[in-house]
Amino acid sequence: MPKPKVLFAASEVYPFAKSGGLADVAYSLPRALHSTYDIDVVMPLYTSINREKFVIESLDEYFEIEMDGVLYPVEIYGCKYEGISYRFVYAPLLCEREFLYGPPECGYEDNALRFGLFNYAIVAMLQKNNYEIAHLNDWQSALVPLLLNENKTIKTKSVFTIHNLAYQGVFDFFYLQKIGLDEKYFILDALEFYSQINFMKAGIAYADVVTTVSPKYAKEILTPAFGCGLEGFLKLHEKKLSGILNGIDTDHFAPPFNEIKGKAVSKKAYLKEAGLKGVSKPLFVFVSRFTWQKGMDLLIEMLPKLALAECNIAILGEGEELYHSKLKAIANENANVHLSFGYDEALSHRMYAAADFLLMPSLFEPCGLSQLIAMHYGALPIVHKVGGLADTVLEYKKCDSETKKGCGLTFSKENAAAFMKAVNTALELYKNKRTYNKIVQHNMLCDFSWNTSAKSYSELYEKIRQKRDNHE
Ligand code: ADP
Ligand code: GLC
Repeated sequence: MPKPKVLFAASEVYPFAKSGGLADVAYSLPRALHSTYDIDVVMPLYTSINREKFVIESLDEYFEIEMDGVLYPVEIYGCKYEGISYRFVYAPLLCEREFLYGPPECGYEDNALRFGLFNYAIVAMLQKNNYEIAHLNDWQSALVPLLLNENKTIKTKSVFTIHNLAYQGVFDFFYLQKIGLDEKYFILDALEFYSQINFMKAGIAYADVVTTVSPKYAKEILTPAFGCGLEGFLKLHEKKLSGILNGIDTDHFAPPFNEIKGKAVSKKAYLKEAGLKGVSKPLFVFVSRFTWQKGMDLLIEMLPKLALAECNIAILGEGEELYHSKLKAIANENANVHLSFGYDEALSHRMYAAADFLLMPSLFEPCGLSQLIAMHYGALPIVHKVGGLADTVLEYKKCDSETKKGCGLTFSKENAAAFMKAVNTALELYKNKRTYNKIVQHNMLCDFSWNTSAKSYSELYEKIRQKRDNHE
């Protein structure tokens, strides 16, 4: 029996383009599903992608997409990377840009057109290659289920995964016509959102199943506090919504050690690299996009106090200028705070390997991968108890031989004092080497891979494949 064909679509996929965890998931989940499904991954061929390095070549597939009477030429490229087959959509409008979505503070004005085009290209591929399942991710591919609903000759079933409800792809009404969609979709049950159009709503309304990346976030987004205005709409579609936790690819995130002694070597090397002093002091690490979601304000308020303690702090990230300049000021004033600005995958791995604690005070967190990576590398995350952070990090005091979850420190109240209290507990815990080491060892033995969650996705795929067969 040939394996069922799946097309997995995302706007970013590691190692080709990455701005956050979506790229990690789009890299690692297809790898975990690959033994059961004939899975292709599709993304835009941004100009920033190195075609030579990845041997990305034209597949000689050309077609034109019409939106509002304008014809847009599209070319499909492909490559094989680590056993997975990748498809790339090339169209100048979509790809010839400096950033994936726009500069840090705002998206490109014509993103509706750019990603509208991407969605049509995906549908053309589904039609041509007879995929049984389309797995769409976030707003950038959320129109596909609507387009499939429009074209009933294509039998592909769809899974829509919400990685972050804070980004919905909301555009002026003007773009409805520009992306070639009928006004019949400008209703509350479809794209209309406060007189604008909302791509995310199309995925929620028309996909056969909707998932998000942790069970807790699946519940949170049904409430006004986390629903970003879509809580009512999600509630309407609650029956097809579920939460499946992300995993990490443990081949890619592989600590260069498998016991605590080895971790000490990594820590020493990193401290030297960063010009930080004191191997015996706890090292707190923060690796993230500098954006509101990540609790930057709590972090910036708390850091100067933490810096007074006997410890080192290392920060890696990029994003909003305001946060960057505030962090820079803190690093300039404190010799024990080191700031690396930019995106650097290899450096992030060295920092996880060196870290004793990871700071993750996110205001909301659909799943979060940094805390999983940190625990896998033997660090204890200090997290705000929301979304995937609540689902994946168990308070260290509850850590026993039975628990399969990783452990760290959690705080519930969304303020810098609660965060500082958890950090103070961490400082105390670090002095109690026996207990601290036990938790490090526990975390390093936990399974953060995709094993369990890939099974959950397979079950969903099978459920909707059956639906497809019954309809044929
Ligand atoms: P989000 O997707 O919201 O940014 P996640 O925790 O799910 O958050 O995933 C973030 C991913 O991006 C992790 O793999 C993290 O290590 C990585 N990352 C974030 N910022 C940087 C950076 N500046 N350099 C390297 N890796 C980074
Ligand atoms: C989003 C979320 C993050 C999640 C990632 C991958 O960027 O912010 O919590 O881990 O997507 O699903």
